[in-house]
Amino acid sequence: MRPYVYVNVAMSADGKISTTARKQVRISGKEDFQRVDRLRAESDGIMVGIGTVLSDNPSLTIKSDELKKRRLHEGKDENPVRIVVDSHARTPPDADILHRGAGRRIIAVSRSARSEKIATLERKAEILVAGDNEVDLAALMDQIGERGVERLMVEGGGTLIYSLFAQGLVNEFCTYVGNLVIGGGSAPTPADGAGFMLEKHFVRLELKQVVPMDSGVLIRWKVKGGGFTS
Ligand SMILES: NC(=O)c1ccc[n+]([C@@H]2O[C@H](COP(=O)([O-])OP(=O)(O)OC[C@H]3O[C@@H](n4cnc5c(N)ncnc54)[C@H](OP(=O)(O)O)[C@@H]3O)[C@@H](O)[C@H]2O)c1
Repeated sequence: MRPYVYVNVAMSADGKISTTARKQVRISGKEDFQRVDRLRAESDGIMVGIGTVLSDNPSLTIKSDELKKRRLHEGKDENPVRIVVDSHARTPPDADILHRGAGRRIIAVSRSARSEKIATLERKAEILVAGDNEVDLAALMDQIGERGVERLMVEGGGTLIYSLFAQGLVNEFCTYVGNLVIGGGSAPTPADGAGFMLEKHFVRLELKQVVPMDSGVLIRWKVKGGGFTS
């Protein structure tokens, strides 16, 4: 079965998730940081695109000792399985996601990834193959579902999130909107990619929750047609 997919990103008041330099920036505050940590702890898997790994080098680990202990007590790994969507196996072998924190890692590649790159990454992560030239996201969801991932948190970036939306694979979309303006025509947004040209293809959302948080606001949307867990 495919996992329940919730996308979580932080964006500026003008809808940017980073600057035109595409490097990580701080958009939210302490309360949102703790919310994201709890959300990670409740997830079976955390997914990002290779663009985010190359830009930000995130570890995607749970930061709270209490949350880590609770997961261990429940018989889970300290961290959810961390998954990189990486068609050509470009994940740097020294990436933090491969080295920081306990728990499993998955690198999802396409059939065009070079075998020597796969061999290097295989030492640190399970390699899943889906798609010819780019990762087939629907097939990947089936594969990670078979590995026990029921709740999948997607943390970016905009290219991956757009593809997930375009393929109808998102159940819930959560944005933290921070009190700052970043600007820049080419700065990434929560859903980049090719974009939808026709109104009939727009992804329709239903508002579920709006919560003032830190100096900004958290907005939770259900994707219409997708299931939703409160
Ligand atoms: N504010 C936030 O919450 C937040 C969170 C995360 C990231 N970010 C920002 O987002 C930016 C990175 O985003 P990004 O859009 O460049 O990268 P991304 O979405 O993280 O990764 C995109 C890459 O994933 C790979 N991919 C493989 N199969 C795919 C598929 N079916 N559909 C889409 N992508 C697929 C592609 O590279 P290959 O062709 O090589 O496979 C693609 O270029 C950075 O600036 C980062 O700071 C912000």
